Amino acid sequence: MPDLSRRAIIPEIMDTEPVPYDEFRDCLRAIERINRLTFAYRPTLRWLDRATTRRWNDRPIEILDVGSGHGDMLRRIHGWARRRGVAVRLTGIDVSPWATRAAGEATAPGLPIRYETGNVFHMEPGRDFDYVISSLFAHHLEDGDLVRFVRWMERHARLGWFVNDIHRHPVPYHFIRHAVRVAGMNRLVLHDAPASVARAFNRRDWQDLLSEAGLPAEAVEIRWYMPFKYGVGRLR
Ligand SMILES: C[S@@+](CC[C@H](N)C(=O)[O-])C[C@H]1O[C@@H](n2cnc3c(N)ncnc32)[C@H](O)[C@@H]1O
Repeated sequence: MPDLSRRAIIPEIMDTEPVPYDEFRDCLRAIERINRLTFAYRPTLRWLDRATTRRWNDRPIEILDVGSGHGDMLRRIHGWARRRGVAVRLTGIDVSPWATRAAGEATAPGLPIRYETGNVFHMEPGRDFDYVISSLFAHHLEDGDLVRFVRWMERHARLGWFVNDIHRHPVPYHFIRHAVRVAGMNRLVLHDAPASVARAFNRRDWQDLLSEAGLPAEAVEIRWYMPFKYGVGRLR
């Protein structure tokens, strides 16, 4: 077992190895299943509930999801918006063209969701977004890039941003390592799921990273969500 007292530098296969489309798509489908079983959408939807209390009659809310993977968070947000009667325009960006393709295939035509391929660090959107969110993306970044990402969100999120990621802890590490084996998931998931817990965060990591990014502690909320997630959010 890796030393979970600090962020591990175990590379994830999905970031480092070229894999065929079918294998990558199956990995994203498995992550979607894990997301559903681990209530992974809840922190972001609860934060959006709090973030969007004002009335939005004038125009759709523009939301960017960075590292959008299979697009399941954006589909959830679309359902959330429909239930609340608010219009949304949703964009997902992912560095993997396989993710763009798989997310497009998993999304019903006609939904207001667009998927783009690109590295967030090379993206300077012409128009800014109301909210920038990410889910299970932050742990893919090394500390230096994470600080850059926080600054990037500060520049591009008009009203706020929210990072949803795993709490690095032995309980989720052992749970996911066994669960993906028992479920017979593919080679990428078997390796990357426990690796992602080892690469994730505790509260102290977030405090240090935000301070490094130059944000005062009181400007950002770091909240723990059941089970073993941190939501790190900034509202203007
Ligand atoms: C573990 S997946 C999470 C997918 C999805 N957000 C979810 O919650 O299931 C992380 C995604 O981030 C993407 N990614 C990694 N580095 C990126 C970067 N620099 N810019 C954009 N996407 C990136 C990967 O291709 C992958 O699809």
